[in-house]
Parts: sequence; structure tokens; C-alpha cells
Amino acid sequence: MSEIAFHLNGTPVRISGEHPTRTLLDWLRETRGLTGTKEGCNEGDCGACTVMVTDEAGPKALNACILFLPQLHGKAVRTVEGLTGPKGQAHPVQEAMVAHHGTQCGFCTPGFVMSMAAAHATGRKDHDDVLAGNLCRCTGYAPIIRAAEAAESAPVPDWIVDDPIPLLEISSGGEAGGRGGQTAPLRPQSSDELAAAYLATPDATLIAGATDVGLWVTKQLRDLAPVIFLNAIADLQQIETTPDSIRIGAGVTIETLRNAMRVAHPALAEMLRRFASVQVRNAATIGGNIANGSPIGDGPPALIALGGTLHLRRGDTRRDLALEDFFLDYRKQDRQPGEFVEAVTIPATAPGLRIYKLSKRFDQDISAVCGAFNLTVEGGTITAARIAFGGMAGIPKRATATEAVLLGRPFTEPTIRAAMAAMTQDFQPLSDMRASAAYRMQTAQNMALRYFHDLNGTPVNVLEVAP
Ligand SMILES: Cc1cc2nc3c(=O)[nH]c(=O)nc-3n(C[C@H](O)[C@H](O)[C@H](O)COP(=O)(O)OP(=O)(O)OC[C@H]3O[C@@H](n4cnc5c(N)ncnc54)[C@H](O)[C@@H]3O)c2cc1C
Ligand code: FES
Ligand code: FES
Repeated sequence: MSEIAFHLNGTPVRISGEHPTRTLLDWLRETRGLTGTKEGCNEGDCGACTVMVTDEAGPKALNACILFLPQLHGKAVRTVEGLTGPKGQAHPVQEAMVAHHGTQCGFCTPGFVMSMAAAHATGRKDHDDVLAGNLCRCTGYAPIIRAAEAAESAPVPDWIVDDPIPLLEISSGGEAGGRGGQTAPLRPQSSDELAAAYLATPDATLIAGATDVGLWVTKQLRDLAPVIFLNAIADLQQIETTPDSIRIGAGVTIETLRNAMRVAHPALAEMLRRFASVQVRNAATIGGNIANGSPIGDGPPALIALGGTLHLRRGDTRRDLALEDFFLDYRKQDRQPGEFVEAVTIPATAPGLRIYKLSKRFDQDISAVCGAFNLTVEGGTITAARIAFGGMAGIPKRATATEAVLLGRPFTEPTIRAAMAAMTQDFQPLSDMRASAAYRMQTAQNMALRYFHDLNGTPVNVLEVAP
């Protein structure tokens, strides 16, 4: 691997000779003796490995178990060992955890305090959401949340405010002499550079946030070389808004997208709140979510219901297609060797958009069914209908028969019930560990009824039910 440089707990480090898919967690524990960062699940689910990573955009919590070393180039990493001050002073969240009895066995505690410290540094107070990606099995959450609240008013310590980000010369990390025989640049700096590199090395694995790819390494023990990391490509991370449309670069993270959509598409923002956890959303990209082609990915149903257009690029050739046409069959997408996702464009507004994610847990869980509804009702008549589901077929899929029943009909409960019946023409869902086929069908149909009541102003969200 070409040289990777970052700051670790305030001290510059330079690494070379490591495999490009060496995880930060393994490297910290095995080569640095920094064993405060724990391994729980090794798949992004438990938060025991949470570290704080700072770049130009500020500090954020990330899971070290699915974070590869090249993703850290030019950033500042803080582990639990670096959370205390230079004279050993405890960080305010650590003091609060002690004062509020926020820890018993302590295995999860390093991850909790790192999530809390990252939130504290950015002034976040939505502690339930912030800690949704940290599992604790013995203390219980109430004392931990009390500790987070107690630390809110404490100033951010100087050693966190001043965490230096290394000033580095721009480098695409050419691989000459690197491990794995890789010749493609490891970290292209622009989509032009990526386009050329991927065309020349179409068998390379693209790695964006590594929240899917990370598990291929930690769980399937795959050697992915050659690899191309996308996280240094600033022009893929832009959101461009015009009066009519919003173009979202493939490298935009789910957390950035969630924040950007709060006004234009609040239903999308609210669904993204339940997309994994803060640590995963801080890394995961919308491009990875689409390109991965999972039938239970949460982004595609919403973007299909919005009428999203996908922008693909291969070398200098670009093409656009309706997002629903990208998904051909289970894990089979309309993507050529050397072709990558550049962006997706959605309309600037869609007042009728609602998205319902159904999973066993409210937080940090993969969908059993995710339904996205986007109807236009004019003068009481349905004049446009786009409905898409995840979890109901081998691909994220549009409900065309259901839509056909709705079009041109009055927006009334009988119409909705007719559409619910038509859903069986659109989908023959599978039974798996998340849900049975019958449950999936019934809940998808019920989502249509929920949509009807939702648009008519009836509270339908469990969080809206007053005690
Ligand atoms: C704990 C956990 C919880 C999760 N919860 C959810 C959830 O609630 N909802 C959900 O939808 N997903 C969830 N995921 C899955 C994952 O986070 C998403 O699919 C994420 O959006 C993937 O993005 P990424 O940037 O991490 O992709 P990566 O892992 O980097 O890549 C995924 C795939 O896309 C390819 N790729 C990436 N970018 C491009 C591009 N620009 N062009 C072409 N190919 C590309 C990669 O080669 C790879 O095949 C979860 C994952 C974890 C670990
Ligand atoms: S070890 Fe569980 S999220 Fe990393
Ligand atoms: S303190 Fe034991 S699991 Fe959290």
C-alpha cells in the first residue's frame, strides 16, 4: 500500500506496506496496542469499536471495524485512549458517565463515550439517535442518556477543538510496489481520474463508505485487491439544487443526505434517520446503497418513488436511466465493466412522498419491508402515482399494477382498498428470517392504507402517539 498519513490521538503517523483492506480496528489493536477500541460484532452493528474521525467537515463517529486504513488519509483519528487531555484530564462525557453510573461491565463503554464525545463536539442533543448504534447489554440506556444530557453544557475540551488535521500534498496513492499487484490508483482525487482508472482496471472493487464491502472482508474473509477508494473524490460528494431538481453525487453520505433533505423531502430525511446508525450513516454513501443492488436497501425504493434518474459513467461515456430500470434481477444491475454510479437526480419537491420502514427494531435494523408512496392528488383525483417497495421482491421494485388501479380514481378509501388488492399482482414476496411472505404482503398492503390516513392528517407514526 502506498503511504497513508493521518493523526492518531494528536500524533502524526505514516503507514506503508499494509494491505489496503486492513481495518483500523485490527491495526489499532494489533500494531499499536490500543486495545481500548473493542471488537464486538466486527460488522458495524454494535458500536464497541467507535472512534472519532475529524476532517474538514468536522468530527464524526465511525465504526473502526469496517473502516479501512486508506479511508483515513489526511484525517485525525481519536480513540478512547486519546479522549483524555494531555495531563490525563477526563473528557466531560467520561466524567458524566461515572457520575451517572453509565457503565457496568464496561465492554461497550469505550464505544459509547466516543459516540458521545463526537456528538458533544458538534453540539448534538438528539442522544437517542446518536446512541442508536451503540449496544449495551447490562447497564441499560437511561443512565447513559442521563450522562449525555449532563455533559451537554460542558465546553468542548481544547484538545478536541484543536485536533489537528494533517496538511498533505494531494496524492492519488499510486500503487507501484504495493501489495496485491495493484496498479490502479488507490485513492483517485476526481471522477475523471476514477473513470480512467476503472476503465483500465474494471475488475477492481470500488470502495466508497465500506459499510457493505467491509463485511466482505471481516465476515467473508475475501481478499479484494485491486481496490479503488472513492472517498477522496470531492466532485462526487456534491448536492446540486435547481428550482426543479436535486442532483445527489454518488459519494454523498447518508448522514449528509439526511440533513440536506429535511426541508425538500422531510419523509426521506425521516426514513434515513432509521437507516442503520450514526456511525454507519457517516460512512455509507447513496452511490454504494444503489450500486450494491440489495433488495432490502432503503435508498432505492424512496428514490424510485421520487422518479429518480441514475447517472452512470464509463470512461468518458455517460448515460442516464430511470433508477427502477437499473435493477434487473436479484443482485444483477444494468452496469457494464468499468462503469460507475456518478449521481442520482430527483425532483426538488414531492409533497405527497411518504416512506414507511418496517423492521423488527425501530433503530439500527435492516428493513423487512420498506414502502415508498408518492401520489399527486388534484381536485380529489389521483393524477400521478409512483409506488416502490424494498423487501417485496429480489430487487427494489415499482408497484405498477397497484399504481394503475389508482390513476384517475378519486383519492378515497375504497380506491386505496382496490389498490391494496392489486398489490398481489405486483409482488410474490419471500419468507426469510426477517418476515414471512404473508406478513410482508399484509404489511405492504396496510402501508397503502396508512398512506391514505397519513395524507389526510391522521397521526400514523408510533412516535406521534401521545401517552
Ligand atoms: C450495521 C449496518 C447497518 C445497515 N443498515 C442499513 C439500513 O438500515 N438500510 C440500508 O439500506 N442499508 C443498510 N446497511 C447497508 C449499507 O450501509 C448501505 O448499503 C450503504 O449505503 C452502502 O454504501 P457504502 O458507501 O458503504 O458502500 P460500499 O460498501 O463502499 O460499496 C457497496 C457496493 O457498491 C459499490 N459501489 C460503491 N460506490 C459505487 C459507485 N459510485 N459506483 C459503482 N459502484 C459503487 C461497491 O463496489 C460495492 O459493490 C447497513 C450496513 C451495516 C454495516
Ligand atoms: S465491532 Fe461492532 S460495530 Fe465494530
Ligand atoms: S456496560 Fe456492559 S454491555 Fe454495556
